[in-house]
Amino acid sequence: MDVFAAIAKRHSYRGPYKPQPVPREDLRRIVQAGLQAPSGRNMQTTSFVIVDDPPLVRRIAALHATNTAVQQAQAFIACCVDRQPQPVYEGHHFQVEDCAAAVENMLLAITALGYASVWIDGWLRLENHAETIGNLLGLPPAKAVRILLPVGAPAETWPQKDKKPFEARTFFNRYGRHTASEPLSPRGEGQG
Ligand SMILES: Cc1cc2nc3c(=O)[nH]c(=O)nc-3n(C[C@H](O)[C@H](O)[C@H](O)COP(=O)(O)O)c2cc1C
Repeated sequence: MDVFAAIAKRHSYRGPYKPQPVPREDLRRIVQAGLQAPSGRNMQTTSFVIVDDPPLVRRIAALHATNTAVQQAQAFIACCVDRQPQPVYEGHHFQVEDCAAAVENMLLAITALGYASVWIDGWLRLENHAETIGNLLGLPPAKAVRILLPVGAPAETWPQKDKKPFEARTFFNRYGRHTASEPLSPRGEGQG
């Protein structure tokens, strides 16, 4: 599957999984895609805990009350960041961006390999779920689980969410300028 096909096919999946394990080789390929992601100053700040031990998978799965994909996950990828990130560029750190870039790469790899997942982030912040999972995974005190990906082979097709049309969010050369054929003014300032 080429990258545009994977982008078009990717969607959040919260349905049931087939009861078949995800081979470690596939999990390695997925996380390798995350490792290849860009990161601020190439600091590669995100680390990953691949969870494929069935009893441990079930303990994490049991924490979610409503999301079937989490409840039936065959594996998880826990993406971990520093609790107190060090600045890497002019006082700034990029840990959230680094982690997000890795996660999107992994979601595309998951899709390309025929699996499905959903970006679990908001839920981790509720009721100490990130802490609980971090403890289960033996994270050192300085690290926290920032994003969790359930992985498995989808047992159902799942609706893709509509995305706003290109023109609603995208402009050429000047914010609010919709088409490439709209001329710029002589000063290059568009049509006001
Ligand atoms: C920063 C972020 C946090 C998210 N947190 C959750 C979450 O906690 N639980 C969940 O089910 N989905 C979560 N999602 C998935 C979004 O709900 C989903 O991407 C969005 O509804 C668009 O649907 P799509 O992924 O199918 O395009 C999160 C996505 C992002 C980018």
